[in-house]
Amino acid sequence: MSTIVQHPSPPASANCTPAEYDAHYQRSIDDPDGFWLEQAERLDWMTKPTKAGEWSFDPAEITWYADGSLNLCHNAVDRHFETRGDQTAFIFEPDDPATPGRSLTYRELHTEVVRMANALKAIGVSKGDRVTLYMPMIVEGAVAMLACARLGAIHSVVFGGFSPEALAGRIEACESRFVVTADEGLRGTKRVPLKANVDAALEFDGVDVSSVLVIKHTGGAIEMKEGRDHWYADVASDDECPCAEMNAEDPLFILYTSGSTGKPKGVLHTTGGYAVWVATTFHFTFDYQPGEVFWCSADIGWVTGHSYVTYGPLINGGTSVIFEGVPNYPDHGRFWEVIAKHQVNIFYTAPTAIRALMREGDDHVTKHDRSSLRILGTVGEPINPEAWRWYYEVVGESRCPIVDTWWQTETGGHMITTLPYASDMKPGSAGKPFFGVQLQLVDNDGNVLEGANEGNLCVTASWPGQARTVYGDHDRFIEAYFSTFKGKYFTGDGCRLDGDGFYWITGRVDDVINVSGHRMGTAEVESALVLHPAVAEAAVVGYPHDIKGQGIYCYVTTMEGVDETDELYAELRAHVRKEIGPIATPDHLHFTDGLPKTRSGKIMRRILRKIAENDYGSLGDTSTLADPSLVDRLIEGRQNR
Ligand code: WTA
Repeated sequence: MSTIVQHPSPPASANCTPAEYDAHYQRSIDDPDGFWLEQAERLDWMTKPTKAGEWSFDPAEITWYADGSLNLCHNAVDRHFETRGDQTAFIFEPDDPATPGRSLTYRELHTEVVRMANALKAIGVSKGDRVTLYMPMIVEGAVAMLACARLGAIHSVVFGGFSPEALAGRIEACESRFVVTADEGLRGTKRVPLKANVDAALEFDGVDVSSVLVIKHTGGAIEMKEGRDHWYADVASDDECPCAEMNAEDPLFILYTSGSTGKPKGVLHTTGGYAVWVATTFHFTFDYQPGEVFWCSADIGWVTGHSYVTYGPLINGGTSVIFEGVPNYPDHGRFWEVIAKHQVNIFYTAPTAIRALMREGDDHVTKHDRSSLRILGTVGEPINPEAWRWYYEVVGESRCPIVDTWWQTETGGHMITTLPYASDMKPGSAGKPFFGVQLQLVDNDGNVLEGANEGNLCVTASWPGQARTVYGDHDRFIEAYFSTFKGKYFTGDGCRLDGDGFYWITGRVDDVINVSGHRMGTAEVESALVLHPAVAEAAVVGYPHDIKGQGIYCYVTTMEGVDETDELYAELRAHVRKEIGPIATPDHLHFTDGLPKTRSGKIMRRILRKIAENDYGSLGDTSTLADPSLVDRLIEGRQNR
């Protein structure tokens, strides 16, 4: 198995050749202002910016295009009328293939967005308000995002798989007074009670929501509270609704994401820089060509859905697929069936899905026509070379370049990525930095590691798509990202740079785990566990999992007198599910009579991680533990699993 897969020779239409990559990259470093003002031409501005980035990482204060103004909804929708009013903007593929789908031209999308914006206005939303979207993967989800952008309201999308508790926390944290939801969502054979979850969330103390806008999707029975809840159809209207003029640095959205400590952080993105970043990365990474069908399988509840289901494709005037379903319903060929049905050219998904489908055999893939496919992409976690090969050879018939894109909620869009015709591919490596991205590896003391090396991945210069703050808590922003290594943005990831200039992400080095491409703070799962009356203490770590990448491994000590029964085991798993959502369901609970702590009471997570990984040879010095004999008992417990 060779480690390099050569890029195919660039077609004449390629958006970037190897020589162009080098030239663009060099220019983006030597003359960032010139380069990024030029990329800003991808957008229509109300006031053209005269300067690009003005920023400092110490203390962190970041602006881009600060004297420019624009509206992102105008850029994603309205301006495409003249040139491509009849072109398809969104293709909606429902959960059940037997249900008719739907597609919207740019003109139809405009009508929908105006109706939604008027509905939001009717329930009281105005510029600067935070609007929580708790939606299934239907067109109205993206439409609600765009409608917020039209009015200058700040959307905060909460993934529809989160529990009422998690939703309540996110509504409260940004003092959102408005929620947009649907009666129910559909995922495979399951119905997700979205409206009922909203009802439950609004019961929590500290949540103060005045209006809920409800979209009828399944038609399932729900309760509507007089005066608070409004059916979308009752308040939508076709009245004129102009796009609000926004300063480039006005907030566009908040997205809650997990960190190593405390509650999820409300990462804030602003308008101009984010728009330039997603427009530029979409254009180059996916080599998008006019008329092509692009499908990103991520949910709009995650940043990938924000940047590459909604904003990136639409700003580029593209056609984007919105898929409501799951990869294994009605069978494991669903992805490839959708690709054949809609003649998808560019497909973007997560390694966890690839691994799960690979296990089901090639027939599910090969029986569907994949001749429309041109480029394949991955995101969310490292892809193991075996899954990469399968994706490349079986799905893409060894003719579609694979782009492995490394980025984060905080980065707004791709940061390290293969470019389809511009760089060779090494299975498992995300490739080289995108334009303007300046990386550095440092050791734990912050010493810069030169050349081919492995260390903590930092970014030393701002880029347009960078998050500007944590909503309402700039100190936390500084603490989380700029204090570990002063003057640098610390990603939380470990990384290796090889001699050819390729970056290999090795995974998180903080207390964040990546489960099926979903980012989760171990602290969140621990907090959920200790809420249960039977639990005294909990420590949660990730461990290697064949399909999910990482699984959730929980060490639990119970209260005096509690029996550690199978029933309790099941109850605790259900409890975490209820507190956070199904994605946080523990894979394994390990009852123990204690947690390994130093004499000063600090939990030694490194030991817990090693034991969960079944790696007992390198536990390091355990003599500083308050109770060294505990380690043997923990290992025994692990082996008896
Ligand atoms: C991980 C998702 C390896 C990484 C866009 C990062 C990846 C975290 C890759 C961010 C990749 C994302 N290869 N690891 N191509 N892409 N990650 O905020 O650990 O949900 O820090 O953003 O996912 O997750 P987030």
